[in-house]
Amino acid sequence: MGRVTPSADLSRALRPRLPSPLQEVRDERFARHGVRLFLKRDDLIHPDLPGNKWRKLALNLEAAAGRTVLTFGGAYSNHLRATAAAGRLLGFPTVGVVRGDELARRPLNPSLARCAADGMRLHFVDRTTYRAKASSEVLEGLLGLFGDVVVLPEGGSNALAAQGCTALGREVAGEVDVAAVACGTGGTLAGLAAGLDPGQRALGVPVVGGGFLGEEVARLQREAFDGPAGDWSLEERFTFGGYARTTPELAAFTDGFEDRHGLPVERVYVAKLLFALTALAEEGAFAPGTRLAAVITGAPDAPLQESSVSR
Ligand SMILES: Cc1ncc(COP(=O)(O)O)c(C=O)c1O
Repeated sequence: MGRVTPSADLSRALRPRLPSPLQEVRDERFARHGVRLFLKRDDLIHPDLPGNKWRKLALNLEAAAGRTVLTFGGAYSNHLRATAAAGRLLGFPTVGVVRGDELARRPLNPSLARCAADGMRLHFVDRTTYRAKASSEVLEGLLGLFGDVVVLPEGGSNALAAQGCTALGREVAGEVDVAAVACGTGGTLAGLAAGLDPGQRALGVPVVGGGFLGEEVARLQREAFDGPAGDWSLEERFTFGGYARTTPELAAFTDGFEDRHGLPVERVYVAKLLFALTALAEEGAFAPGTRLAAVITGAPDAPLQESSVSR
């Protein structure tokens, strides 16, 4: 494995707040089982590249070295937004390949409008093409359209992203026993686990079902670290029906967590993580004395205006 910290140049340009704060909070639902709860505030790393976005993008942007970065996402992708913002801040061109060709005929939603305002070229593709985005046929088509570009996968999860996320593990080394993170594509968990010390473990909470994530994390670890790295497991019971789905129970829990701890909770990922950890603590899944960190991988969206930015 090569160097796993971004260069001083990138850090100077973006000034991320690192290490992110580790805050202990008092929560009766954990305390009565002897569990100490900590919030690893990755949401405070950077206003435009919060949470795992900085950690996953930094080494990739450095490797791209100013060339156009092309990447993929859905209509509300945080990853597209962060890539577009990085392009604006660092002055490199970006292309976002967006799932859903019907979106090309509608006004941009606030998230895509922000991407466009940050200079990202948006390219809409139908769902069949999007599903085949890693195929050589689709990639060659995109390279034909956009020329010499650096391609980042959906969610930005590749070997460099996982390597970047090892810093998250190193930052909590010696501080906690279990570090838990919500998972979409698995890149953050793959790196977090690799960065932990022996005796610490990582717990991933997928926000989408399907049972594919364990193999995906293992694959990313093979690519990034040449094999399995660190002690990690998945807790797959808390998807609440799938990506961006919620239930009244989850919404009420999240409102309550915000009130209790004064933490604005991102709803697609972080809410499910916090719900899962609370349920697990109540089930007695953590031994008394466990120091448990919930990685706050994102912040709720700032209010955005509906817009019809032209493209
Ligand atoms: C706020 C937030 N938390 C967690 C994740 C999951 O990260 P990963 O795709 O690396 O599993 C994402 C997606 O990138 C995210 O936007």
